[in-house]
Amino acid sequence: MILEAILSSLNEDETPNFAPIGVRTEEGGVYPLTEFEIHLYPGSHTYENLKRTGEGVVNFSDDLMAFVDSALYSKPLALVPSEKLLTPRMAQVQAFWEFTVRDFDDTREPARLRGQIIHAQHRGNFSGFCRAHGAILEALIAATRLQWLTPEELREKWPLWQEIVIKTGGSKERTALAKIKSYLQERKFMVAEQLE
Ligand SMILES: Cc1cc2nc3c(=O)[nH]c(=O)nc-3n(C[C@H](O)[C@H](O)[C@H](O)COP(=O)(O)O)c2cc1C
Repeated sequence: MILEAILSSLNEDETPNFAPIGVRTEEGGVYPLTEFEIHLYPGSHTYENLKRTGEGVVNFSDDLMAFVDSALYSKPLALVPSEKLLTPRMAQVQAFWEFTVRDFDDTREPARLRGQIIHAQHRGNFSGFCRAHGAILEALIAATRLQWLTPEELREKWPLWQEIVIKTGGSKERTALAKIKSYLQERKFMVAEQLE
């Protein structure tokens, strides 16, 4: 599954850099893992920094404005020192993973980076933003509003929701979407092939 996090890394002048990045994990969400993968497009500070320094922090935050500010405005975010790395982490996050780069394969685009988690902390029950959750909510809302939707409208939107869930969700998210699909099929609102 892919969780959307804010990655901190160190610029060449030793200032911190923050950027949202999708972190590919097994089913465990933000909870203790040893490894993860990220896909990095060339041209970002994050790409250069991780390649050069071999370390970074995955910060799991529910602060949407921090995502917008770091993605579009390079705004510095409140930070605190890491436990094990030179790279600082974000202050007030629900969870973080300090990691070292185990493998950086830049022969592919996007590059594949494997991170080895060397120190992690988790607070509360936040399990990380996942795009599949938004897609499931949209599909579910549509399923409760069938009286106002035409089958064509639903057919048009379904492939995008399905693609997001398949790409970013885990088994729980795929099961949730399958249940919505069964509901729609039982009501003969859409036939099976239309939802493929
Ligand atoms: C939710 C979200 C997830 C993103 N995931 C990735 C990703 O997995 N890989 C990537 O290369 N860029 C990803 N991006 C784009 C980078 O965050 C964006 O290019 C950013 O401006 C890079 O900043 P930097 O130059 O400071 O590293 C994502 C953006 C958002 C908003």
